[in-house]
Amino acid sequence: SKTLYFSRHGESENNVLGRIGGDTNLSPRGRKYAQSLARHMNEVKIEGLKVWTSELRRTKQTAEGIDAPAEHMASVNELHAGVCEGLTYEEMQDKYPQEFAWRDQDKLRYRYPWGESYVDIMARLDPVLLELEHEDNVLVVSHQAVLRCILGYFLNKKPDELPYINVPLHTLIKVTTDGYNCHMECIKLNV
Ligand code: F6P
Repeated sequence: SKTLYFSRHGESENNVLGRIGGDTNLSPRGRKYAQSLARHMNEVKIEGLKVWTSELRRTKQTAEGIDAPAEHMASVNELHAGVCEGLTYEEMQDKYPQEFAWRDQDKLRYRYPWGESYVDIMARLDPVLLELEHEDNVLVVSHQAVLRCILGYFLNKKPDELPYINVPLHTLIKVTTDGYNCHMECIKLNV
Protein backbone atom coordinates (compact mmCIF):
# COMPACT_ATOMS: atom_id res chain seq x y z
CA SER A 1 0.00 0.00 0.00
CA LYS A 2 1.05 3.59 -0.44
CA THR A 3 0.25 6.96 1.02
CA LEU A 4 -0.31 10.35 -0.56
CA TYR A 5 -0.89 13.56 1.36
CA PHE A 6 -2.94 16.55 0.29
CA SER A 7 -3.51 20.01 1.69
CA ARG A 8 -5.06 23.25 0.57
CA HIS A 9 -2.82 26.27 1.15
CA GLY A 10 -3.35 28.07 4.44
CA GLU A 11 -5.93 30.85 4.50
CA SER A 12 -4.91 33.58 2.03
CA GLU A 13 -5.64 37.30 2.03
CA ASN A 14 -8.20 36.71 -0.73
CA ASN A 15 -9.87 33.93 1.30
CA VAL A 16 -10.35 36.48 4.10
CA LEU A 17 -11.97 38.94 1.65
CA GLY A 18 -14.04 36.23 -0.09
CA ARG A 19 -12.35 37.01 -3.41
CA ILE A 20 -12.02 34.45 -6.19
CA GLY A 21 -8.55 33.36 -7.35
CA GLY A 22 -5.70 35.88 -7.52
CA ASP A 23 -2.19 35.38 -6.17
CA THR A 24 -2.23 36.83 -2.67
CA ASN A 25 -0.06 36.01 0.35
CA LEU A 26 -1.14 33.92 3.32
CA SER A 27 -3.09 35.70 6.07
CA PRO A 28 -1.66 35.56 9.63
CA ARG A 29 -3.89 32.51 10.28
CA GLY A 30 -2.69 30.92 7.06
CA ARG A 31 0.91 31.43 8.19
CA LYS A 32 0.11 29.68 11.47
CA TYR A 33 -1.23 26.74 9.49
CA ALA A 34 2.00 26.63 7.46
CA GLN A 35 3.92 26.37 10.73
CA SER A 36 1.64 23.62 12.10
CA LEU A 37 1.86 21.68 8.86
CA ALA A 38 5.66 21.90 8.81
CA ARG A 39 5.87 20.87 12.47
CA HIS A 40 3.58 17.89 11.82
CA MET A 41 5.31 16.69 8.65
CA ASN A 42 8.79 17.15 10.12
CA GLU A 43 7.88 15.28 13.32
CA VAL A 44 6.34 12.31 11.51
CA LYS A 45 9.51 12.08 9.36
CA ILE A 46 8.12 10.45 6.24
CA GLU A 47 10.62 8.36 4.28
CA GLY A 48 11.53 10.06 0.97
CA LEU A 49 8.84 12.71 1.30
CA LYS A 50 8.43 15.04 -1.67
CA VAL A 51 6.33 18.18 -1.83
CA TRP A 52 4.50 19.41 -4.92
CA THR A 53 2.96 22.87 -4.85
CA SER A 54 1.31 25.09 -7.43
CA GLU A 55 3.15 28.10 -8.78
CA LEU A 56 1.08 30.49 -6.69
CA ARG A 57 2.47 32.26 -3.63
CA ARG A 58 -0.01 30.83 -1.17
CA THR A 59 0.93 27.18 -1.75
CA LYS A 60 4.67 27.89 -1.80
CA GLN A 61 4.37 29.81 1.47
CA THR A 62 2.33 26.96 2.99
CA ALA A 63 5.04 24.39 2.20
CA GLU A 64 8.02 26.60 3.10
CA GLY A 65 8.99 25.03 6.44
CA ILE A 66 8.73 21.39 5.41
CA ASP A 67 12.08 19.54 5.29
CA ALA A 68 11.64 17.90 1.89
CA PRO A 69 12.45 18.74 -1.72
CA ALA A 70 9.71 20.87 -3.27
CA GLU A 71 8.58 21.13 -6.87
CA HIS A 72 6.28 23.87 -8.13
CA MET A 73 3.96 23.07 -11.01
CA ALA A 74 1.39 25.13 -12.89
CA SER A 75 -0.68 21.98 -13.50
CA VAL A 76 -1.95 22.17 -9.89
CA ASN A 77 -2.68 25.93 -9.97
CA GLU A 78 -6.20 26.91 -8.91
CA LEU A 79 -9.02 26.99 -11.46
CA HIS A 80 -8.53 30.18 -13.43
CA ALA A 81 -11.66 32.31 -13.14
CA GLY A 82 -10.85 34.56 -16.13
CA VAL A 83 -12.76 37.85 -15.99
CA CYS A 84 -14.00 36.97 -12.49
CA GLU A 85 -10.53 36.71 -10.89
CA GLY A 86 -10.45 38.97 -7.85
CA LEU A 87 -14.22 39.46 -7.60
CA THR A 88 -16.38 38.25 -4.72
CA TYR A 89 -19.23 35.89 -5.69
CA GLU A 90 -21.62 38.78 -4.94
CA GLU A 91 -19.74 41.10 -7.31
CA MET A 92 -19.80 38.37 -9.96
CA GLN A 93 -23.56 38.04 -9.60
CA ASP A 94 -23.98 41.85 -10.00
CA LYS A 95 -21.57 42.27 -12.89
CA TYR A 96 -22.21 39.02 -14.78
CA PRO A 97 -25.65 37.74 -13.72
CA GLN A 98 -25.99 35.45 -16.76
CA GLU A 99 -22.56 33.89 -16.10
CA PHE A 100 -23.43 33.41 -12.45
CA ALA A 101 -26.67 31.62 -13.37
CA TRP A 102 -24.93 29.39 -15.93
CA ARG A 103 -22.31 28.38 -13.39
CA ASP A 104 -25.03 27.51 -10.91
CA GLN A 105 -26.78 25.33 -13.51
CA ASP A 106 -23.72 23.32 -14.53
CA LYS A 107 -20.78 23.93 -12.22
CA LEU A 108 -18.78 21.01 -13.66
CA ARG A 109 -18.82 22.20 -17.29
CA TYR A 110 -19.15 25.96 -16.78
CA ARG A 111 -16.10 27.80 -18.14
CA TYR A 112 -15.40 31.36 -16.95
CA PRO A 113 -14.91 33.83 -19.84
CA TRP A 114 -11.13 33.76 -20.54
CA GLY A 115 -10.84 31.17 -17.79
CA GLU A 116 -11.37 27.49 -17.02
CA SER A 117 -14.01 24.93 -16.04
CA TYR A 118 -13.69 21.90 -13.75
CA VAL A 119 -13.58 19.79 -16.92
CA ASP A 120 -10.63 21.89 -18.11
CA ILE A 121 -8.72 21.34 -14.88
CA MET A 122 -9.41 17.59 -15.01
CA ALA A 123 -7.69 17.61 -18.42
CA ARG A 124 -4.60 19.44 -17.19
CA LEU A 125 -4.50 17.17 -14.12
CA ASP A 126 -4.35 14.03 -16.22
CA PRO A 127 -0.52 13.76 -16.25
CA VAL A 128 -0.41 14.63 -12.53
CA LEU A 129 -2.87 11.82 -11.69
CA LEU A 130 -0.84 9.37 -13.78
CA GLU A 131 2.31 10.35 -11.91
CA LEU A 132 0.58 10.13 -8.54
CA GLU A 133 -0.51 6.57 -9.39
CA HIS A 134 3.18 5.65 -9.36
CA GLU A 135 4.34 7.81 -6.45
CA ASP A 136 4.46 7.19 -2.72
CA ASN A 137 4.85 9.76 0.07
CA VAL A 138 4.11 12.87 -1.91
CA LEU A 139 2.42 15.87 -0.30
CA VAL A 140 0.45 17.95 -2.81
CA VAL A 141 -0.20 21.50 -1.57
CA SER A 142 -2.80 22.94 -3.88
CA HIS A 143 -6.21 24.59 -4.04
CA GLN A 144 -9.90 23.90 -3.45
CA ALA A 145 -11.08 23.13 -7.01
CA VAL A 146 -7.94 21.16 -7.97
CA LEU A 147 -8.03 19.06 -4.80
CA ARG A 148 -11.75 18.33 -5.36
CA CYS A 149 -10.76 16.84 -8.72
CA ILE A 150 -7.78 14.86 -7.38
CA LEU A 151 -9.63 13.48 -4.35
CA GLY A 152 -12.72 12.78 -6.45
CA TYR A 153 -10.53 10.73 -8.77
CA PHE A 154 -9.06 8.61 -5.96
CA LEU A 155 -12.45 8.23 -4.26
CA ASN A 156 -14.23 7.31 -7.52
CA LYS A 157 -16.73 10.16 -7.34
CA LYS A 158 -19.04 10.88 -10.25
CA PRO A 159 -17.92 13.89 -12.34
CA ASP A 160 -21.01 15.92 -11.39
CA GLU A 161 -20.17 15.54 -7.69
CA LEU A 162 -16.61 16.88 -8.04
CA PRO A 163 -17.37 20.63 -7.75
CA TYR A 164 -19.16 20.05 -4.44
CA ILE A 165 -16.66 17.86 -2.55
CA ASN A 166 -15.82 19.40 0.81
CA VAL A 167 -12.09 20.09 1.14
CA PRO A 168 -11.67 22.11 4.33
CA LEU A 169 -8.88 24.61 4.94
CA HIS A 170 -6.22 23.87 7.57
CA THR A 171 -6.57 20.12 7.25
CA LEU A 172 -4.05 17.52 6.16
CA ILE A 173 -5.65 14.78 4.08
CA LYS A 174 -3.95 11.40 4.10
CA VAL A 175 -4.96 8.97 1.35
CA THR A 176 -3.84 5.34 1.60
CA THR A 177 -4.42 3.06 -1.38
CA ASP A 178 -3.62 -0.52 -2.30
CA GLY A 179 -4.81 -0.45 -5.87
CA TYR A 180 -8.54 -0.87 -5.32
CA ASN A 181 -9.28 0.29 -1.83
CA CYS A 182 -8.74 3.87 -0.94
CA HIS A 183 -8.85 5.15 2.62
CA MET A 184 -9.01 8.83 3.44
CA GLU A 185 -8.13 10.38 6.78
CA CYS A 186 -8.47 14.08 7.67
CA ILE A 187 -6.09 15.53 10.23
CA LYS A 188 -7.12 18.97 11.51
CA LEU A 189 -4.09 20.99 12.52
CA ASN A 190 -3.96 23.85 15.02
CA VAL A 191 -4.03 27.40 13.70
O1 F6P B 1 -12.44 30.79 -3.03
C1 F6P B 1 -11.26 30.06 -3.10
C2 F6P B 1 -11.18 29.32 -4.41
O2 F6P B 1 -10.02 28.53 -4.39
C3 F6P B 1 -11.18 30.21 -5.66
O3 F6P B 1 -9.92 30.70 -6.01
C4 F6P B 1 -11.76 29.28 -6.69
O4 F6P B 1 -12.24 29.91 -7.84
C5 F6P B 1 -12.82 28.60 -5.88
O5 F6P B 1 -12.31 28.45 -4.58
C6 F6P B 1 -13.25 27.26 -6.40
O6 F6P B 1 -14.41 26.87 -5.70
P1 F6P B 1 -15.84 26.98 -6.39
O7 F6P B 1 -15.71 26.13 -7.62
O8 F6P B 1 -16.78 26.41 -5.37
O9 F6P B 1 -16.12 28.42 -6.72
